[in-house]
Amino acid sequence: MTTRVDAATFERLGGEERVLARLSGVDGVVRSVPEGESLMCALGVGPLAVADVLSLAAGLARVLAAVHARGVLHANVHPGSVHLAAGDAARPLLGDFSLASTFGEGQPRFTHHREIRGELAYLAPELTGRSGRGADLRSDLYSLGATIYHAATGQPPFAAADPLALIHDHMARVPRAPNALRPALPQALSDLVMRLLEKEPERRYDRLEQRVREQTREILEAAHRAGMAQIATNVLHNVGNVLNSVNTSAHMLRAQVSESRAARVADLAALLEENADDLPAFFTHAGKGRVLPRYLRELADALAEEREQLLGELQRLDASVDHIKNVVAMQQSYAGTSGVLEPATLAEVADDALRMHEDALARHQVAVTRDYGPTQAVPLDRTRVMQILLNLLENARHAMEHVQGERALRLVVRQDAQGATVEVTDTGCGIAPQDLAHMFAHGFTTKPGGHGFGLHSCAVAAREMGGTLRARSDGPGAGATFTLQLPLQA
Ligand SMILES: Nc1ncnc2c1ncn2[C@@H]1O[C@H](COP(=O)(O)OP(=O)(O)OP(=O)(O)O)[C@@H](O)[C@H]1O
Ligand SMILES: [Mg+2]
Repeated sequence: MTTRVDAATFERLGGEERVLARLSGVDGVVRSVPEGESLMCALGVGPLAVADVLSLAAGLARVLAAVHARGVLHANVHPGSVHLAAGDAARPLLGDFSLASTFGEGQPRFTHHREIRGELAYLAPELTGRSGRGADLRSDLYSLGATIYHAATGQPPFAAADPLALIHDHMARVPRAPNALRPALPQALSDLVMRLLEKEPERRYDRLEQRVREQTREILEAAHRAGMAQIATNVLHNVGNVLNSVNTSAHMLRAQVSESRAARVADLAALLEENADDLPAFFTHAGKGRVLPRYLRELADALAEEREQLLGELQRLDASVDHIKNVVAMQQSYAGTSGVLEPATLAEVADDALRMHEDALARHQVAVTRDYGPTQAVPLDRTRVMQILLNLLENARHAMEHVQGERALRLVVRQDAQGATVEVTDTGCGIAPQDLAHMFAHGFTTKPGGHGFGLHSCAVAAREMGGTLRARSDGPGAGATFTLQLPLQA
């Protein structure tokens, strides 16, 4: 039996094959998007995390730029044509080239709106054939903008159900800025999307890839700087705490020395000098010197005890100074550029992070347990891992601040040939299910003095290392677990 194919479909399929042949070997291009694995499906449960939106924008721009470099106009970029393999926003694949054409092939003409091809909600004004402008590669930029808009806000820029109203919106209405709908979105990202959604093609970007890269790099760098500042803040905070105990030790030492019974030795010498002329009489039964041996013994004992106390205090002082030295040295070794991989073991980095919080954890009576599996030295971006752990430990401590009863922090480190995980579990206030979804959004905080930047910058850092950061909690009062997962190069 033969399948009858109408002429338009035949032409389209032929076109698709031609386009795909031209795109052969382009990274990120796929023939089709498996059902259930499109960006559209992922958006069914709401917008992506902000860090994922950034990754998606950069990733899609990269693929689209490569497609354009081969002279191909996709003409139907929308969340349904983007394949998120394994849900990974950083490596989106672009599929469904059924409407694609090589640049220069025919222009859309005015047709009945039911015949407009492509997903209307994401279509550039000129692709509707109604703007009097021809379609070109910049038409894909508009659709890219609309796609990122949807991923970032959970809805396309225009949501009218009626096709004619939708076409009118694309032609004439300016959508609300993404960060007006979702304030956690960085301004630069919101501006980028709005620029892509310009009505006039020449007002969109010319060199897409470069612009998107530049903008996302700026945002990532800002997040990174914040991470470095976070480490510096932690160091200062920690040194500040240790300096308090240095101060206390110094006060104790001064008080002990000024009240020392050592001065009594001088009294004793003066007494002996006064009686130097007749010491034998002084030591007789009737003389005052009779009690001297016992007094000397008691004084010697008291002085020995004093000496012990002074030594103990000096030891504490020494330990505090050492601690400050370590923290400062650690800051120096972590202040290097991140993105640099150096051999280190995760257990080491975890211990360093714990050491930085040691003082505060002890003050809040938090019992710390460490469960480290065997870890070998592997190339690690220590700065980023450190930044993440410091944030997680700080959040865990905050979460336990008002908890009555047991305060326990557990650090689990596991490593195998594929990767490593670090888990930070606390017995703190826990996380309500509705908050779990926003945890990593920029600006989400429930603390009076919080910035809501800690976890966001951690998620960005984890992503930059090719890893993930996840939060789990059984709800308010049930504590929380944060899991950092990292791929490792052997
Ligand atoms: N271990 C935890 N247990 C319970 N809630 C947590 C935990 N960690 C984070 N949270 C919640 O997530 C929110 C965001 O954390 P994040 O570190 O991003 O910001 P923050 O701690 O509020 O402020 P900052 O930017 O100064 O770190 C917190 O305000 C808190 O409500
Ligand atoms: Mg925090």
